[in-house]
Amino acid sequence: MILPKRLFVVSLTAIMTWLVLASPPGAIAALAQDASSFIGEKNALKIPPLMKDENPGTNAMDITLRAMQGRTSFFGTEHYTKTLGYNGSYLGPAIKVERGQILHARVINELDDDTTLHWHGMKVEGQKDGGPHYPFAPGETWEVSFLVDQPAAILWFHPHPHGRTGRQVYMGLAGILIVEDDISRNLDLPGNYGKNDIPLVIQDKRFSRNGELVYLTHMMDTMHGMMGDVPVVNGTYNPYLEVEREMIRFRLVNGSNARVFDLFFENNRTFWQIASDGGFLSSPVQTRVLTLAPGERAEILVDFSSSQYGDRAILRSPEFEILACLVNNNEGAKQSSLPRDLTQIEPVDTSEVVRNRTFVLSGMGPMVSINGRQFDLDRIDEVVQLNDTEIWEIRNEMFQGGPMGGNMMRGMGRMDRMGGRGMPMARAMAHPFHIHGVQFRVIERDGSAPPINERGWKDTVLVYPYETVRVLVQFQKKGTFVYHCHILEHDDMGMMGSFVVE
Ligand code: C2O
Ligand code: CU
Ligand code: CU
Repeated sequence: MILPKRLFVVSLTAIMTWLVLASPPGAIAALAQDASSFIGEKNALKIPPLMKDENPGTNAMDITLRAMQGRTSFFGTEHYTKTLGYNGSYLGPAIKVERGQILHARVINELDDDTTLHWHGMKVEGQKDGGPHYPFAPGETWEVSFLVDQPAAILWFHPHPHGRTGRQVYMGLAGILIVEDDISRNLDLPGNYGKNDIPLVIQDKRFSRNGELVYLTHMMDTMHGMMGDVPVVNGTYNPYLEVEREMIRFRLVNGSNARVFDLFFENNRTFWQIASDGGFLSSPVQTRVLTLAPGERAEILVDFSSSQYGDRAILRSPEFEILACLVNNNEGAKQSSLPRDLTQIEPVDTSEVVRNRTFVLSGMGPMVSINGRQFDLDRIDEVVQLNDTEIWEIRNEMFQGGPMGGNMMRGMGRMDRMGGRGMPMARAMAHPFHIHGVQFRVIERDGSAPPINERGWKDTVLVYPYETVRVLVQFQKKGTFVYHCHILEHDDMGMMGSFVVE
């Protein structure tokens, strides 16, 4: 038996979490407990290594990424699971670039299948964006270089070959890309990578009894997307992280195929969201729960400066424990300040809008579609003029004109959004809508202003059942791109369209 028993008590844990959530803050007091017994069977959180510039001394960051097969030990060394990764067996190294630098990447396909490499969140031209129109075959190298010219943010990269994206990401192909700029460097924020600036790629997996990854074996996997029963963070099963008594910055990436995570700390600890997909918010947003859909990112600050040696903080979702943090030093706490302002975000200005387009998301499982059509690599769905500003209206209609109780689902979607506690039914029918090659602004959710943490730069936005979300977007890069649902099984089944900017 490779899988620990706790995998089978997930539902009980979920119920207990509901009780915890329902109880007043502090009701569950942290028990003083010996650190080693706390760590117990947990594994030290893996931190993706920072990539080295292969040709230092130029303004370009030169890197080589090899998409390869490997074996990864998730549950100790008695079994190595078949996985995929970049320059390693699972996930990839972290790329850190400065705004104003050229990123020059060679991507080598050592898989036995076509792949692409897509820079999710990057404002680049179509043929450099690495979407489904630009596959390269086993043995081939894709070489790409572009100027990074956008605000500091946590972006990520992953393959995008049409029909196989879900499988390739699920098996481990994904990595993070950090953009820094003058603003991020001048803010007094934790920035010591791997120490107080911690990337967290959150995913859920399902393992077979013999320890292999299981993909699309149930009907439900194709209906709602592939969800697992085991969380992994940076490829670490059951992880812990030792932290000092200071402010810790987490860069969160929902790298799962289909699961929307409601993230919170046990004991109702508050934290601050400082960035969304495309960069800093204008100022920190204090919260207790953060919803992150597949493809979305966020940066948060968690203050451990008034914690004591041995204190713990468990980051979790209703269904899973995600990461156990343990305060490991007894020395004086480091001063931690919370910046009042982070960056300037220009006010939403719709006066330049030249066009409105509507995207209706509907269907389930293999029937998913956008505007009644499924993706076709040879069809261009929309044509946009370079530098035009448009409003894209995204509607989640579930079943077009269907008999389902529209108002009921609509209400559930809204409750879900406000409560942040996962109405499973509404949750399973929500679609994270993503547009390539741009960063946009959410201007309206169901007729109202978006929540405050969605008022910064975004490239992926969750659209709940029967909801309409309007985004303001300027197209600053030429080429052929796609927009799609970031539930990767929906994307693979055709909930995607293509657009050309010319
Ligand atoms: Cu995360 Cu089309 O991408
Ligand atoms: Cu993308
Ligand atoms: Cu979807």
